[in-house]
This record gives sequence, C-alpha cells and structure tokens, in this order.
Amino acid sequence: MQHKIIFATNNPHKLKEIQSLLGNHFVLLSLSDIGFMGDIPENEATLEGNAIQKVHYIFDKFHFPCFADDTGLEVESLNGQPGVFSARYAGQLHDYGSEENRSAANINKLLANLMGKANRHARFRTVIAYLDGKNEFTFEGIVNGSIIDVKRGNEGFGYDPIFVPDGYNCTFAEMPLVEKNKISHRARAFSGFVKYMTKEE
Ligand code: IMP
Repeated sequence: MQHKIIFATNNPHKLKEIQSLLGNHFVLLSLSDIGFMGDIPENEATLEGNAIQKVHYIFDKFHFPCFADDTGLEVESLNGQPGVFSARYAGQLHDYGSEENRSAANINKLLANLMGKANRHARFRTVIAYLDGKNEFTFEGIVNGSIIDVKRGNEGFGYDPIFVPDGYNCTFAEMPLVEKNKISHRARAFSGFVKYMTKEE
C-alpha cells in the first residue's frame, strides 16, 4: 500500500532526495502538487517553531499528513546567529535579485561579523516537523564544523563555501554532493524521519 504525504516545499531538489530515501511505499506531494501557491508563514523565533508552524499551517488547510523542514547555521561566537535568520541574514531575496547574490551577501555579512574573533566553531542544524492529526514529531540533524575566512569551492549553495565540517580539510562547497549528503545536517535529520516513517513497512 502506498502512503501519500505532503512535503511542505517546492524545492524539487529536496523532493527528489527525500522521495528516494523514503522508497516506493510513500508518495510525496509538493505544495504545487496540492495546488498551494501561497507563502507559508515562517515567523517563529526558532527552527523548531518554524517547522511546526509550517506543518500546522498546511495541515489545517488540507487535513493530510505533512512534514516540513527548516535549517540554520549557528555560529558559536555570534550566540547562535544567523540561526533561524540564515536565509535572510543580509536581507530579502528581492533586494538581491537571485539566491546566489543573496548567499554572497550573507557570507560577506557573516565574515564581517566574525572579523577578529578567534572562536570559529559553527554548526548547521535542520529540524523536520511531522504532523498527521494524531501524531506530531520533530527530528533534528546537526553537523559541527568551523567557519573559514575566504570562500573555497563551487559546489552546494548558501554558506557551503565557508563551512569546513569537523574531520575534513575541505569546505562543503569543495565536496561532491554525494559526500556532503553522507554527513550533512539535512541527511541526518531526514534519516531519523525516514526511520520513523518506514519502521512498520
Ligand atoms: P532552508 O530552511 O533549507 O531553506 O535553509 C535556510 C537557509 O540556510 C538557506 O537559505 C541557506 O542560506 C542556509 N542553508 C541551509 N542548508 C544549507 C546547506 O546545506 N549549506 C549551506 N547553507 C545552507
């Protein structure tokens, strides 16, 4: 039997990745698959809060099992910033015209705020929230690392060019995606989620 679940995203890359992890017993429906074209509010103060807010928003409209994710880069010497503000640290998308330009501005702002700080420890953290009307769960995935001063690599996206995961000499942007996917925050959070979803299959 196939179970349908809504993944509250329109990111085709994420959909494909998670569909392959969940296997054929699950059919993922994106927001466009269910005809939802609006914006989902994300105005909580934590990653958990945002992920939970997103699943409740969609569940209340569609009454269908649903999950959502939220990710942030948490930098120790900046008291966990940019955290929940990672995507919009340097401003809104329309201020920059493209996701690439905005990511470059986010990185420049982060490096400026870290100037002169010796502690470069940071972590990526992903939280997934799941809601089916009876059960509500969250799953977390973390990868620890450090922030370097000068961007390196062209793979990945976001803060990848300045993040070196612990135990590696290269940044996430210097790693092939398959390598990043073995250790990333998102992969770890999704592995918990997939274990939960497939435990009775
Ligand atoms: P989202 O919740 O997945 O949309 O992530 C929010 C923001 O965190 C993104 O816009 C990126 O700036 C940053 N981010 C999330 N995941 C990654 C990653 O794997 N590498 C680098 N930056 C990331």
